[in-house]
Amino acid sequence: MAKGIELKGVSKVFRHTERGDVHAVKHLDLVVQPGELVTLLGPSGCGKTTALRIIAGFENPTSGRVIIGGADVTDSMPNKRNIGFVFQNYALFPHMNVFENVSYGLAIKGVSGAEKRERVAHVLDLVGLQGMEKRFPNQLSGGEQQRVALARVIVTEPAVLLLDEPLSNLDAKRRVQMRSEIRRLQRSLNMTSLYVTHDQEEALSISDRVVVMNSGEVEQEGTPQEIYARPASLFVADFIGKVNSLPAEVVRVAGDEAVVAFESVEFTVAKPKASITAGQQVSLLIRPEAIDLCDDLGEEDARAPRGRIAQVTYLGEKIEYDVESGGVVVKTVSFDPARRGVFEQNQNVYLRMQGGSMILVER
Ligand SMILES: Nc1ncnc2c1ncn2[C@@H]1O[C@H](COP(=O)(O)OP(=O)(O)O)[C@@H](O)[C@H]1O
Ligand SMILES: [Mg+2]
Repeated sequence: MAKGIELKGVSKVFRHTERGDVHAVKHLDLVVQPGELVTLLGPSGCGKTTALRIIAGFENPTSGRVIIGGADVTDSMPNKRNIGFVFQNYALFPHMNVFENVSYGLAIKGVSGAEKRERVAHVLDLVGLQGMEKRFPNQLSGGEQQRVALARVIVTEPAVLLLDEPLSNLDAKRRVQMRSEIRRLQRSLNMTSLYVTHDQEEALSISDRVVVMNSGEVEQEGTPQEIYARPASLFVADFIGKVNSLPAEVVRVAGDEAVVAFESVEFTVAKPKASITAGQQVSLLIRPEAIDLCDDLGEEDARAPRGRIAQVTYLGEKIEYDVESGGVVVKTVSFDPARRGVFEQNQNVYLRMQGGSMILVER
């Protein structure tokens, strides 16, 4: 039976380091439901590994509680927590072959003989390594080593799986392949998983829910779609994909909407939680793909900000345009340029965009 993970107000301070006291994790509240895959996403140094190590019991929290399957395990030893931990560097035993590496954890649990052989064969089959039992780690590619690391952990049928940047040592193509394999395995075995990465695309593609961390704290959590479409801050918007931040002024506020002007063109956007008032200088966040460029406006269009193409970057399936408008450089992207046509550098254009695609944040 899959078990859930819960962190209640977990903090970790590393005291007396060469940088003084380091607050690696600050009052972290986190729930991973049984069978769910949640990603901790954030830049290097934001406390992701520390959070995982606390759940695994490799590190004691300075305060807060760790609950697994409803039981408080904060004071339990790591080997009593029934947790599988997949490390960034695989941590395989170099002198053991694949079979020995994978069966190691079973042997420790007292599983032997035919049952051990069957369970190892089953997981090697699951991760696509059948027939490789006799190979040693140095005879395997990076991707195969990561599969062994995964097999070694799932063979013990842990209650929860923790993965710390498991794909960061693989090349881009393998990374994409392995992440969908991990997701497939995680789903089919219904394994509660907490997955750490600094790669936003990986997080969006693999997760039921994403928790974005910044300096030891949660910035935002939600489904991949929520995080991408409704980022709660410039930090989240910027970290997850590309985003423009347009300088704008609040014209008026009405109910849960605000009318905001950029380049003297008014847009109606959802009002943020923070209180804003007419005349206030704010930023409008908008994704590059939410802006359409055109060289003249149709009858049905309201007014649109004007701009000048400052740079054209041709990328085959898409073209990226940097457009100067309102004193800033606005990034836009046009997919399928062969059908849609190409704008030239220095060409004057209109930026067609909708208030519904914008997010108002305070400056
Ligand atoms: N054992 C330690 N001693 C002192 N500082 C540490 C230790 N482990 C991590 N830190 C610090 O805690 C912060 C968070 O680190 P970490 O959890 O490894 O971040 P991430 O995995 O997100 O890159 C960093 O500033 C890091 O330098
Ligand atoms: Mg880390």
